[in-house]
Amino acid sequence: MNKPIRKAVLPVAGLGTRFLPATKAVPKEMLTIVDRPIIQYVVDEARAAGIEHIVFVTGRNKQVIEDHFDMAYELEDTLRARNKVAALELLEKHRPQPGSTSFTRQQAPLGLGHAIWCARDIIGNDPFAILLPDMIIKSKVSCLKQMVDLYENVGGNIIAVEEVPEDETHNYGIVEIEEEINETAARISNMVEKPAPGTAPSNLMITGRYILQPEIFDLLGKHNKGAGDEIQLTDSMLALMKDQSFASLKFEGQSYDCGSKLGFLSANIAFGMDDPKLAQQLVPFMEDVIKQPLAAE
Ligand code: G1P
Repeated sequence: MNKPIRKAVLPVAGLGTRFLPATKAVPKEMLTIVDRPIIQYVVDEARAAGIEHIVFVTGRNKQVIEDHFDMAYELEDTLRARNKVAALELLEKHRPQPGSTSFTRQQAPLGLGHAIWCARDIIGNDPFAILLPDMIIKSKVSCLKQMVDLYENVGGNIIAVEEVPEDETHNYGIVEIEEEINETAARISNMVEKPAPGTAPSNLMITGRYILQPEIFDLLGKHNKGAGDEIQLTDSMLALMKDQSFASLKFEGQSYDCGSKLGFLSANIAFGMDDPKLAQQLVPFMEDVIKQPLAAE
């Protein structure tokens, strides 16, 4: 039997420069999609996949993330005194169990691979998940849960993938498929981080969800630099592929790259439409907005 996936690493040390000045004092992971910070969507996805412990790899100015997943004692006390039961229940629903989170700092921005390596002592010798909080995924079944289901069948390492237009492949990690396992899963034969335009081995991008075996840490510990002169997770996964199997999963769901303004706005609209009351007002509003001339015209 494959060892269960109990822990997940969420790297949240990034500076969020694409969202300045919004992210000057507020971490990008705390920007709001409808009524929840981005990071909450990702934690909820992990918990829906059976993850019991979440390791946040943070950096300076990220303390508010730790506060968000703690009890807000004064606030909850006030809500209790005012008998605001629904609000209290909402806070409780989204709060991880005591002791089920860990926070460690990536001391310098040396790349995603380095951020993951910073979690090695807390993860130990078990397979684990990684969720990149820039990506939030709207799906019927948690994307990570879909990956765990595949992992339980095939073991090894699993990477969520989706198709991207060819002119965008240079922005992502790209995988090459060797053979199909079934309609949605396949064996991976190669992967490359941010291939130069025109050189990508396919149009299948790495979406930011991974299930990896702990041997990845030895490879990350070599601190070899790759694309963008950073320590890349993709490079260590490619090295691990010499010894272990890697499968890709085309998950059911829609991803939103909240590291980009378009992805962030799209996510707000898509998740907003999930609330019937909000949708009722949002639709006529959007119909009205698209009739108005563009600012550039
Ligand atoms: C990271 C990964 C890349 C992946 C992407 C998804 O890149 O290195 O393989 O495709 O996330 O968002 P980053 O966005 O951190 O440059």
